[in-house]
Parts: sequence; C-alpha cells; structure tokens
Amino acid sequence: MSGLLIKGGTMITAAETFEADLRVEGEVIAEIGVNLAERAGEEVVDAEGMLILPGGVDVHTHFDLPMFGTVSSDDHYTGHKAAAMGGTTTVIDFVPQDTAPLLENVRRWHARADAKAAVDFSFHMNISHLDAQVEREIPELVKAGITSVKVFTAYNNRLRLSDGEILKVLRIARQHGMLTLVHAENGDVIEVLVAEALAAGRTSPEWHALTRPAWGAVEAALRSASLAAQAEAPIYLVHMNAGGEADQLTYARSKGVQMMGETCPQYLFFSLDDLKREDGAKWICSPPVRSPADQERLWTALQKDEIQVVATDHCPFFYDGTRPIEYEGQSVAIPGKELGRDDFTRIPNGLPGVGDRMLILWTYGVGAGRLTPNQFVALNCTNPAKIFGLYPRKGTLIPGADADILIWDPGKKIRHGVANSAQRTDYNLYEGWELQGVPLAVYLRGKLLVRDGRWYGKAGMGRFLHRSPYAPVL
Ligand code: URP
Ligand code: ZN
Ligand code: ZN
Repeated sequence: MSGLLIKGGTMITAAETFEADLRVEGEVIAEIGVNLAERAGEEVVDAEGMLILPGGVDVHTHFDLPMFGTVSSDDHYTGHKAAAMGGTTTVIDFVPQDTAPLLENVRRWHARADAKAAVDFSFHMNISHLDAQVEREIPELVKAGITSVKVFTAYNNRLRLSDGEILKVLRIARQHGMLTLVHAENGDVIEVLVAEALAAGRTSPEWHALTRPAWGAVEAALRSASLAAQAEAPIYLVHMNAGGEADQLTYARSKGVQMMGETCPQYLFFSLDDLKREDGAKWICSPPVRSPADQERLWTALQKDEIQVVATDHCPFFYDGTRPIEYEGQSVAIPGKELGRDDFTRIPNGLPGVGDRMLILWTYGVGAGRLTPNQFVALNCTNPAKIFGLYPRKGTLIPGADADILIWDPGKKIRHGVANSAQRTDYNLYEGWELQGVPLAVYLRGKLLVRDGRWYGKAGMGRFLHRSPYAPVL
C-alpha cells in the first residue's frame, strides 16, 4: 500500500469545522477536499461519523529526569507511547543544566532520548546557573534546534536565578529570537515556610501546598512580566496554577508585554482537598494544585483566550515504588512518592498526565460545554506549535503539514484509568472517570501508531525537531 485516504470525516482545526476527505502521501498531508477520488494502491479509511484532528503537541514533559534521589518513571519511550495513546504526537522535554557546557547537556539528553523516541520531539534548555560562559553558550542552542530556555524564580540554591540574571537571559533570548519560559513562585517565602512547617512537625502532603502559597505564584508572575517588559522580550509562563496569575497575564498583555501562558489539567480539576486525602502524595507537584476558585478562573482564561496553551508538566513517579507493575511484559518498580512518607519535602514533585491531557479535556472541557472543539485544537495542538516554532509542520491540518492525524470517535465511551493508560506508573489521577470521545486511530507522519487502543508504534520512530527561532507571540 502506498498513501492513505481518510474519507468522510469532519475536520476540526483551531479556526474551522468542515466535512472533507484527507489524503496522505509519504509523511505529509497531500490534499484536503470534498469527494477525493481513490487512487490505486491507496489505503482507504472510512471516517464517517468521526472527527479528524491534528496530533496533539505537549510542550511540557519531563521524561527520565533524575530528581529527589530517583528518576521520573516514564522514559523517552514509555512517555512517548503514553502520549500517542492519548492523541499527542509531538512533545517537548526539558534538558537539565549541570556544570557541563549547555551543548554537552543537550548531547547527553539526546543520548537518553533519540533511540527510544516514538513520537516527534524537541527540547527546551533549563538555565539554572548563569555566568559569562553560559551567556555566550545560550545562542549556540539555536543551531542545535533549541529555541527556548526555562528559568526559575523558586527552588533556592538549586535551580533559581536572581531577578537580574533572569533579565540577562531574557535579553539574550530576545536577541536570538528565542523564547524564555518561567517557573513563577517565590523561592524565599517557600524556604521560610518549609522550615517553619518542618519545625512544627507538619509533614503531611497538604503542607507542600501550604508552604508554596498562591500569592508567591501571582507575585512572581507579575515580576516575570515586569522583567520581560524591561528586556522588551517575549516570555511564557509555564504551569499556571493560580487564578491571580491569569489576572497578571491579562494585565501584562493589556500593557503590551509579550507574555503568553500555559496551564495544565491538574490545575483545572484538583485542589488542596486532594492533597488532604490519605493518598494525597499522588497530587504533589510544583507549583501545587490550588482551590476551586483558582480552577474556575483558569477555565475562564482558557475560554477567553487569555491563556494560550494546555500542556501537562508530565513528571510521573510511582505512588508505591516498592511494588512492581507490569509494563510491556516486564516487571518494573521505580522509587517514588513513598520516599516522602514521613516528610512532604522528600516526596518527588510531579505527576503523570501526558496521556490524559486530551482525553480528559475532550470530555470534561468540550463535552462539559466549557470549550469548543476548535478551542480544544487551538489549546492542545495549534497554539503550542506556533509559539514553539513548529507551525505549520505540526499542530494543524493543511497540505504540506506532517501527517500527524487523529481519527477521533466522539461517541465512544470508556472508563479511564491506569489499566488503559500507557503511562509507566502505578496510578492515574483520573482513575474511574467516564470518558466520551477518544482517538480511534493516531498517525505520526502517516504511520499508524494507535488503533482501537492497540499500540503499533516502536522505539526509534520519533524524530528530533529542529525548531525555528523568531516564532510568533500569540
Ligand atoms: O512538580 C513538577 N512540576 N516537577 C517538574 C519540575 C517543574 O518545575 O516543572
Ligand atoms: Zn517548573
Ligand atoms: Zn515542568
């Protein structure tokens, strides 16, 4: 067989909904039109009653990331597989910085990722230490296809940069058409509150959130906006968790600051109450989940296009890493949340989500009437591709784009959970949630990765994406 003709579906892009057929030749979309004629040797897929969406783009993952004396439990194969099973065909992962030159850090991350990759992928570079040499090295990242750097206003003595250093990074990034991502929390306040909580014997998971207050996130978001304004540089607020951050983002944008933002499903669906559960460690991530009022403000921001992207910050750990699970026929156990059973500061920060994002947002965003199907595509596919220099190759359905295609069955009902998710961990935050509307088939550059919940992909299929600088600010 050569070529693929998907017939009779309803195309959903960020801007339009229309009936059409779609032809794939080689790795790209060749043609979209009404009643396309079948060609000899072409595989024809009947998509009557189905929706046709672009493959999802998740710009915030942490695969195989060493932290808290362990490592995030999905590697660049299992994480990519989980992404694809949930409709995501492109991911961008973060390269941690150590004392080596930045390009050496990148080379090492390629060594962990390239042979395992099962969907297309790119990298951001963390800048957690700045000196004159690092300043010179940042522009070299562009030639390596990396056009975004992440800085932190929290994690004192570990990842945090001073405000002056962040200003310098923003200036360098602007000069070279790069985008600066910021993790916004108040590192100093967290340091004081954590010490006080531990001294008072407050060690349960809820104290993770209580020692990282929303005010710190809100204040750091505005501080980041002010630094971007003074550097005249674009900036992107990652993992927006507090409603007040949406207010600051909206304020900054109204003043002409080139600021954009992302939130993640955990901040739309969970709150401090989840951290108070007996198994609350499952919900530990940084920044923490907040309140129902914060959730509502974030939803409104998505509806009003005040926040441009939904990503996941996928950084999974086992809930009980002493008990092995079966993954592709192998027994796997990786130390996880149990490391902090008696001390919330030792619970690995992060949670699974790369495979859940599109499934959960379809049913509980589109299905619940909170998002239109076009907003769903904008937030999960098109906007992230545009902001991170991948558009129009990724994130949309047009001739010439990579044939990353989802055939989405809007009527199919399933019960979600760890059993049908390919994330390599022993729990799923959405265990038992009823879904209506899931991907029936997932294609990466015209190759079938998933059909009817079965995995046809393999390690090595994914390609590194060299991204373009000077991407638009949405
Ligand atoms: O808890 C989280 N999010 N871990 C990953 C690191 C980060 O700051 O995104
Ligand atoms: Zn972060
Ligand atoms: Zn992250």
